Amino acid sequence: MCGIVGAVAKDNVVPVLLEGLLRLEYRGYDSAGLVVSNNSLHRVRTTGRVAELVKLVDEQQAEGSAGIAHTRWATHGAPSERNAHPHVSGEETKIAVVHNGIIENHEAMRKRLQADGYEFVSDTDTEVIAHLVAHHLKQTADLLKAVCLSIAELQGAYAIVVMEEVRPDRIIVARNGAPLLLGLGEEGNYAASDASALLKVTRNMIYLEEGDVAELDRDNYRIVNCLNDPLGEPVERAVHESDLSNEAIEMGPYDHFMQKEIFEQPGAVANTLEMVFNAQSISPNLFGSTAEKIFSDTDSLLILACGTSYHAGLVAQYWLETVAGMPCNVEIASEYRYRDPVANPRTLVVGISQSGETADTLAALSYAKKLGHQHSLAICNVAESALIRQTDLRFLTRAGPEIGVASTKAFTTQLASLLLLTVTLAKMRNKLSVEHEQQMIKALRHLPAAVQSSLQVEPEVAVWAERFSEKHHALFLGRGVHYPIAMEGALKLKEISYIHAEAYAAGELKHGPLALVDSEMPVVAIAPNDQLLGKLKSNLQEVHARGGELYVFADADSQIQESENLHVIRLAEHAGLLSPILHTIPLQLLAYHVALNKGTDVDKPRNLAKAVTVE
Ligand code: AGP
Repeated sequence: MCGIVGAVAKDNVVPVLLEGLLRLEYRGYDSAGLVVSNNSLHRVRTTGRVAELVKLVDEQQAEGSAGIAHTRWATHGAPSERNAHPHVSGEETKIAVVHNGIIENHEAMRKRLQADGYEFVSDTDTEVIAHLVAHHLKQTADLLKAVCLSIAELQGAYAIVVMEEVRPDRIIVARNGAPLLLGLGEEGNYAASDASALLKVTRNMIYLEEGDVAELDRDNYRIVNCLNDPLGEPVERAVHESDLSNEAIEMGPYDHFMQKEIFEQPGAVANTLEMVFNAQSISPNLFGSTAEKIFSDTDSLLILACGTSYHAGLVAQYWLETVAGMPCNVEIASEYRYRDPVANPRTLVVGISQSGETADTLAALSYAKKLGHQHSLAICNVAESALIRQTDLRFLTRAGPEIGVASTKAFTTQLASLLLLTVTLAKMRNKLSVEHEQQMIKALRHLPAAVQSSLQVEPEVAVWAERFSEKHHALFLGRGVHYPIAMEGALKLKEISYIHAEAYAAGELKHGPLALVDSEMPVVAIAPNDQLLGKLKSNLQEVHARGGELYVFADADSQIQESENLHVIRLAEHAGLLSPILHTIPLQLLAYHVALNKGTDVDKPRNLAKAVTVE
């Protein structure tokens, strides 16, 4: 999704802006641009990659000691140079704006501003902000006040950064529903939508709150909040030292971030479960200091998430019901937020998100609270995210930054965290004997090694991938707790290889999808040696009998033999509750190798963004 960087410093800020944009590239975007101020506003924009912007900036020798920059993921108006940010307004009072999020009342505002004589040159909602701020600036002659007055009129969730030609020594930023933070550096002050954009210049960050507007110059900053006073009341916000790892964002010896992230999974899972490895027993405190009290008041769970994180929630539902005996509902966040569900105050609401910035998940969680749910838990990979700040309890998946748009290590670390949650709740509800708890701790300690062993099948998967590259469709089958893993496998394949893939609970085949099966339809099946294996084998027979080509990921002890049109890759012996995590790895590898063969943009698949910060 869109990314923002702003800077005011002693020296030329162009390198800081460009470095910041490069670090935000992983979020997904289709155009990029910047404005720097040096007597006049110098704007450079392109529909290409940030690398293209770097070239243009160099050619045009753009420089200045204040600037704003942006990567745009198109919402209003096609990806084009004309629609790329920054947008500008005004002649005498020329200002430039970059913006993340959506202005919901942009049509009405556009009409009003056009009636006032403002000319629009783009299709974006952002241009409304530029003209509105210019309009208020004419009246107030103070950019901070003009921004405050403008946001009082704008509806939607957004973050903006604004600068003014006649005051090239400062930038104004505002947050309303979309993430924005300040970076306080030695050489200047900065703003960005994501802490990783500023790591080269500072680790001292201020996370702005809803309604905050801040003015930054190279030595100072001040923040006002406009929620209750349209001209802003001065507020203090705490400075945090970011502990994001700088190196974690480098690609190292890998060809793609996704590849790196797949192979990082043993370490990512180990980091996530570190606290358990040295413990003699499992404690609810792992989820927060008030977890024991909250968990003992909890009689059921409601999981809210999107995409891959939703699939993690579906796996957790099986675990929570089977191991902890707890009722659990899992809802797609974008659906839940517009339903009229009945709240149970004793239901713990769990938001799962890699980024912690997914707009639908954040909104669904707020909605759940509004409906009367009292307690919430975040399972999230970004310590400094909105989700983490929105919940009573939290558990960090310590996967490290995930750059590839296709989520891999975030998913397996979410599963590891959810298994830990299951075991914790089971223990508190006396569903887990001391002996069983010890077995679970042992199993969790073994998980990183087990993940490592699943990675060993890569060469065999790569051979299969060659056969998939020619295909247009694929089916994925699983049963029980492995059905959501089949869904995740299908999502991975479609998002990076653009092959149409669907997952079915294998028992559903004969209720319709079997009609699709012929020799052109590869059918991928997950065949763990669990209590449903016998049933699954019958479902595979149904496919085989109709000339379908089966690709089966089986446990070593699943006793499925290769035959014509039935290919088998064997993992280790059945791993009990850990099995869904281990069966995920070959599916990630399959999607990765098919995408490699097809030559698609593995880390930045078309039309997708890493953090979906708009509805
Ligand atoms: C998965 O590969 C995706 N790119 C996507 O489905 C993602 O999981 C979803 O957008 C939710 O993101 P989050 O975990 O950051 O909330």
